[in-house]
Amino acid sequence: MEIRKHVLDWTYAFTCRLQSTSPESSLFAGRLEACAQRLQGELQAGTLPYLNMPFRQALEADLPPVLERIRSYKHMMLLGIGGSALGARALQKAFFPAQDRPGHTGPFLWIADNIDADTLDAWMGILDPKETVVVVISKSGGTIETMAQYFLVRRWLQKSLGEAWKAHVVLVTDEKSGDLRLEATAQGLLSLPVPDHLGGRYSVLSAVGLLPAAFLGMDWKGLLRGAAAQAAPLLEGPLASSSLGRHPAWRLAVWSRELMECGYDELIFFSYIPLWNYFGAWFSQLWAESLGKGGKGSMPVPAVGVTDQHSVNQMFLDGPRNKGCLFLTCDSLNKGELFGQDIPAKWSYLAGKRFGDLLLAEGLGTRMALTTNHVPLVNISMGSADEEAAGRLMGLCMTTTILTGWLLDINPIDQPAVELGKRLANSRLGASGHQEEHSALEAFLAKEGKGGALQEF
Ligand code: PA5
Repeated sequence: MEIRKHVLDWTYAFTCRLQSTSPESSLFAGRLEACAQRLQGELQAGTLPYLNMPFRQALEADLPPVLERIRSYKHMMLLGIGGSALGARALQKAFFPAQDRPGHTGPFLWIADNIDADTLDAWMGILDPKETVVVVISKSGGTIETMAQYFLVRRWLQKSLGEAWKAHVVLVTDEKSGDLRLEATAQGLLSLPVPDHLGGRYSVLSAVGLLPAAFLGMDWKGLLRGAAAQAAPLLEGPLASSSLGRHPAWRLAVWSRELMECGYDELIFFSYIPLWNYFGAWFSQLWAESLGKGGKGSMPVPAVGVTDQHSVNQMFLDGPRNKGCLFLTCDSLNKGELFGQDIPAKWSYLAGKRFGDLLLAEGLGTRMALTTNHVPLVNISMGSADEEAAGRLMGLCMTTTILTGWLLDINPIDQPAVELGKRLANSRLGASGHQEEHSALEAFLAKEGKGGALQEF
């Protein structure tokens, strides 16, 4: 069997306002040595576990027995948000499209990553608790959206199943701390750990993403294999700066950083692999929450080929010249049905071609149109679109994000700015210890809507 390679094409990357002509000559190439040393140090300290995956062996041992216990359920209800949900959804849409197609009879994965009373009511009204396993995913074990859903769903299970409810719950959370860990211990619930230093958006290849993936029958070990393969050149012995310099993640990081430096403050993630469309949402969270700090970063813009050619593409092509683009393609996708001769003369050029030829032609057309319209672009051409390939891409994106954060001199792991909104919401709901937020909220509300600010429409 021919093994197709995954390739980054840099031909149209360093163009337009960018000052460099290649990753090697990038404005930020001079940071290579320091970044290589830092990478080596953090790997040794165990603070980059998504890269060297020290948890992999334990996960490969711990996940199968859990899977065995839940295999007979028809429904998995996943309660989680942000990094605790987006990876699972991207994988579900990419490798388990059956649930979105006619005639599907199970298994089903329902991901509750929002506060939507209608949806939760519908699920609890229609799903049979006897056929449902509830997987609660939270690294911190203290996220209000997830905990609130858990309290309601737990009662729903208890009402119908009595003491047997416990066999219908799996908690995926920090090994030692947080309210979910306390709950696992107090109730004796089945649980899997989220490894140390593996923050939400970097955790897709732990139990966070792989338990739902395995439940749906995906090749979850293939995802791990793919990520390990892309990380391998950085893990073989002491890290030479030349190894990092050759690595696609470094090259993407210096390119992304130079884009920002030269006024490109949006980064399009344009996927022409239709089933991988939700990777755009996963990437957006990874990029935005990791890099949007201290006035720095670039706004990720997920886009779907070909659908968005008839939507936001006009803005990409002829709006503000502030966009770079990661363009995702795969030439070896199933091409589907063949066009026959039964089509009008005007369309006869389609005869003898397959439906998928249209996707390839439109991808090429859009890619060329973007570069012609001065959008610096890296084409990520996947040799295949299986789980191993997805693991590679996800690993590449995570490593690129970390390195770009280092080049921005920010911490790509935390997300301090989102805390304010959470504290204000907790204060609004009456949580204790939020006096300062309470007063600030009062002042905010007292001002709102005054002095002709309200307008009916
Ligand atoms: O990427 C992140 O760290 C966040 O988006 C978290 O995933 C999100 O806030 C949910 O956190 P937790 O998994 O602790 O419930």
